[in-house]
Amino acid sequence: MYLTYENKSSEKEVIHDTEKAELASVFGKGSSNKLIQGDNLATLKTLLDDHNLAKKIDLIYIDPPFSTNGHFKISDDRASTISKSIGDDIAYSDTLVGPDFLEFLRKRLILLRELMSDRASIYLHIDYKIGHYVKVIMDEVFGKKNFRNDITRIKCNPKNFSRKAFGNVKDMILFYSKTDKMTWNDLKAPFSDEDISRLFKKIEKDGRRYTTIPLHAPGETSNGKTGQEWRGIKPPKGRHWRSAPSVLEELDKQGLIEWSLNGVPRKKIFAEDSVGKKMQDIWEFKDPQYPNYPTEKNIELVKFIIGSSSRPGETVLDCFSGSGTTLLAAQELQRQWIGIDKSDHAIKITQKRLSEIPNVLFSKVDYEFLKQTNI
Ligand SMILES: C[S@@+](CC[C@H](N)C(=O)[O-])C[C@H]1O[C@@H](n2cnc3c(N)ncnc32)[C@H](O)[C@@H]1O
Repeated sequence: MYLTYENKSSEKEVIHDTEKAELASVFGKGSSNKLIQGDNLATLKTLLDDHNLAKKIDLIYIDPPFSTNGHFKISDDRASTISKSIGDDIAYSDTLVGPDFLEFLRKRLILLRELMSDRASIYLHIDYKIGHYVKVIMDEVFGKKNFRNDITRIKCNPKNFSRKAFGNVKDMILFYSKTDKMTWNDLKAPFSDEDISRLFKKIEKDGRRYTTIPLHAPGETSNGKTGQEWRGIKPPKGRHWRSAPSVLEELDKQGLIEWSLNGVPRKKIFAEDSVGKKMQDIWEFKDPQYPNYPTEKNIELVKFIIGSSSRPGETVLDCFSGSGTTLLAAQELQRQWIGIDKSDHAIKITQKRLSEIPNVLFSKVDYEFLKQTNI
């Protein structure tokens, strides 16, 4: 299945005929971290051809314009407002619509795919108005088999606008991998108070909540220690003890086994020792109330993505980096990073935010430059 529209270039044309750019404003020369000001299409092509980065990027998070046909203003209270007219106080414009927008995005996605290593993933942030068309484009570029999730992101509190439709509190993040060898760290979501009351119903004398699980697991081990009798009890037929009898003895001494009235032992599992629950595909990470930049995303959201889909030392790229949220998140999690944005305001805000973190791995001269940036 393909989307057809006028002026759709072939993949070959995008890969071979895209013009390169002089990377005039690269901050971070000499280090692996780079903040580049410029149009991202030409910049990606230059990174691919002249910086030897083909198949070197391990994770991409992008939050492009959402085809709103408006201009994002920097207002006095630093929060973002959208306007239909352009003026001096514009942080960035978002005026491509329909097929022009889709083709703009598709060209960048094709070059991004060329930059991705075999273990890389890409997360694309978009909204419900254009997102379903973008999903089809992503299927084309990355292959349906590499589609992992359409994550619903709860972005704000419920709204009560008078509108003949339901309130909109979500946007979407489309998650694809380059191959099935993708990096995956199964990070857990913390239990809520409600989860803890539901899952850990029993309460220890000292107030700690716990639940119990059987001491045995399926499978016979007739020869091994876990198949032997413990305290005069054999594991039920077709099952074996979870640990050798000597270990069970130790657990019992430590008060970690609960005995029922009719003498059945079960293992105690405490809420405080549990790692949390499997993260599902609805995430609540609301955006900052007082953003540094219009449409700035919640840094915890980006940290969760980086933690799930990359390893320390690997390279994270964001070619619509805005105020640098992805770069800060990557820096905090000891990943290397490359950010690209064409807006002066975005670059200035990013420099300021980065200069506030100690030990950013910019080369010395650029770090000095950052400190001098006066905004
Ligand atoms: C939605 S904002 C990103 C916000 C960012 N996630 C943050 O947390 O601050 C989109 C950004 O894409 C940038 N942008 C749009 N078109 C671009 C292009 N062709 N090349 C480079 N940057 C572009 C805009 O300047 C804007 O900063």
